[in-house]
Amino acid sequence: MNQTQAKKGYFGNWGGAFIPEVLHQPFFQLNEAYRKIRADESFWQEYVDLMANYSCRPTPLTFAENLSNHFGGARIYIKREDLNHTGAHKANNVMGQGLLVKRMGKKRVIAETGAGQHGVATATMAARFGFDCTIYMGEEDVARQRPNVFWMEKLGATVVPVTDGARTLKDAINEAFRDWVTSMDETHYVFGTVCGPHPFPEMVAWFQSIIGREARDQILARHKALPAAVYACVGGGSNALGIFQGFMDDDVRLVGVEAGGKGTDTDQHASRMTGTRASAGVAQGYRTMFLQDDDGQMLDTHSIAAGLDYVGISPILAEMGESGRVDFAAATDDEVLKALELTMRAEGIIPALESSHAFVQAFKDAPNMGRDEAIIINMSGRGDKDIFTIAHAFDDPSWKKFIIDRADGYRKSSGG
Ligand SMILES: Cc1ncc(COP(=O)(O)O)c(C=O)c1O
Repeated sequence: MNQTQAKKGYFGNWGGAFIPEVLHQPFFQLNEAYRKIRADESFWQEYVDLMANYSCRPTPLTFAENLSNHFGGARIYIKREDLNHTGAHKANNVMGQGLLVKRMGKKRVIAETGAGQHGVATATMAARFGFDCTIYMGEEDVARQRPNVFWMEKLGATVVPVTDGARTLKDAINEAFRDWVTSMDETHYVFGTVCGPHPFPEMVAWFQSIIGREARDQILARHKALPAAVYACVGGGSNALGIFQGFMDDDVRLVGVEAGGKGTDTDQHASRMTGTRASAGVAQGYRTMFLQDDDGQMLDTHSIAAGLDYVGISPILAEMGESGRVDFAAATDDEVLKALELTMRAEGIIPALESSHAFVQAFKDAPNMGRDEAIIINMSGRGDKDIFTIAHAFDDPSWKKFIIDRADGYRKSSGG
């Protein structure tokens, strides 16, 4: 990442901090606090210790021998972010921001969440550090992701369903900003990905860089050479930038895989860099490629993976795409389910639907590569959270019966 640009919050033409006057004060405070922790080496050490003791870091780099043999090309390694506490890379960012909040002396955190993974991770962090916690979530997502809502509430957070707009992630972000305007003195906004106004993209990317630092050391120790390519799925872009940062200055191909949904030639996808429906714009405090119409109205997005179902992309990745440093591809819902099934059967590993997008492109490329080459797939999270979606997509009859029997049981016990 170019530090001169990053200081001003710009990455080429992308990024910035387009914020209303009333939010200048908390952003000023946040910038100051962030500048201090970046300059303080003991902060990073405290962060690494916390992640080692609370979140199983360093996460393993697993050699997928069966998949490698199956495709007969490159050696496939999987970076296991699923083994983080709470089951995804989201923990890296929230625990880092938790330490920052402690240093800032604030007592309350708020967050937006789409799939609920960031919400659960933030609620977990708040419980651990003793902060009050409010999570904003589109009403649509509250209905789709009930198990995550259940856990957030049990962990002590208040979940506020947002009824504006399409009632999804972008509406939750707007509502969280509204809260922050009135509560900034005691509240920190834990942004969940590498988007939003400066310093969020740069700061979240810094916390997530722990993935790439580990992966680089691990592949050099195991394969005795750098990988030919690194693959990651891209929602906002935090797991992708997390791993890419370990290989930024190397001759390593970096591949970001977006949600191709029902196909990038339809209107049901969330591909900002690969489709034809995105254009440059300013929204939610930053400039990037957004899925929007000619009047700047945000378009509805679709993905089988709730965590990739977002209109914008990190300004850092927009710049890296424009400069050609990162190649972008898209994986359709159908391709994702096939890659997921193969990975389960071949390796006994269940990737999240989001992560499975990265597997799709890696599986397309691996057979065309040499046996002496290695590739890394960043497995951003575990698929257990997706059981409802996956069982429905596979049309599993015994799962259907289980749900119907459960519902009948509830109906009977509540006298219905
Ligand atoms: C498991 C998992 N992977 C990937 C993502 C996408 O986010 P990002 O692009 O910021 O890594 C999410 C978002 O919820 C997620 O839960």
